[in-house]
Amino acid sequence: MFRALRFIAALMVLAGSAQAQSFPNKVITLVVPFAAGGPSDVIARLIAQPMSQSLGQQIIIENVVGAGGTLAAARVARAAPDGYTIMIHHLALAAAPSLYSNLTYNTRTAFSPLGLVNTGPMVLLGKKTLEAKTASELIAYMKAQGSKLTMAHAGNGSNAHLCAILLGKALNIKPVYVPYNGTGPAMNDLVSGQVDVLCDQSTTSVPQILGGGVKGYIVTSDKRLDVIKDVVTAREAGLPQFDMTIWHGLYAPAGIPPDIVAKLNDALRKALADPMIVDRFIAAGTTTFPSSEWAVAAHKARFEFEVERWNTFLKEAGVAAAAR
Ligand code: MLT
Repeated sequence: MFRALRFIAALMVLAGSAQAQSFPNKVITLVVPFAAGGPSDVIARLIAQPMSQSLGQQIIIENVVGAGGTLAAARVARAAPDGYTIMIHHLALAAAPSLYSNLTYNTRTAFSPLGLVNTGPMVLLGKKTLEAKTASELIAYMKAQGSKLTMAHAGNGSNAHLCAILLGKALNIKPVYVPYNGTGPAMNDLVSGQVDVLCDQSTTSVPQILGGGVKGYIVTSDKRLDVIKDVVTAREAGLPQFDMTIWHGLYAPAGIPPDIVAKLNDALRKALADPMIVDRFIAAGTTTFPSSEWAVAAHKARFEFEVERWNTFLKEAGVAAAAR
């Protein structure tokens, strides 16, 4: 009996390594958990190009939207762990267990990290018809508006939502939160003046500020961003507690063979070292992680840390888990 089990295990290892050797021999799907045109979509499309070149296979993007990125996560958790279905996600994946009581997957165990992608700040934006010219004028306006203020976000647990909660706490206001399937559509409504403010990642905020579609007021990093030098930091605006750094990583379903993880991590590292990516990231006010953090182990450690961090923060903020 014991020998038979050992034989089956050996066969499985051989099958796994044959599968890894031929990987990839068909198109890879990169699932994006938010709408097209938003920051996760932009970053995914940017890295997919050089990754696909080094893997020698096409990578197609599939936007699976809804419920703050948890529908996409559920889809990937159910997929075969063969490297042909991977996902980009951010700290919403870590925050989701604190916000959704009926997830169909266990965030801590359902995914295999493949590597960290980018990190950057959020930017507090206002519609262009707002009279506020400075951060302090915007803060005064937001306080005066109180519960009449509309603040767009990308679904419960999204960066935009967590940023809105942080800001609401810092200003002691309760605005009307308006959820979208991503900050792509939220930004469209901010540009057309349907909502008052939005806290979005620098990636998609910077081009809109520079193009005059929206006004930029506060950046949530320690230092101002070179590409939008006039936008003050939260500390300069008198809100040191309004501090938020976002990050994206790539994930596969748990159970993926280690050799395939290594191939995908290698392709990601090559993409992150590509001068085209470095330049595009800088132009969007975001950045790669230092190369010392490109290993899968660094991503795993960050993910575990963030699950604990957001779990504690959301409990303290009194944001209860709600069934989707
Ligand atoms: C998006 O791509 O829409 C964003 O990553 C959403 C967010 O988390 O704010």
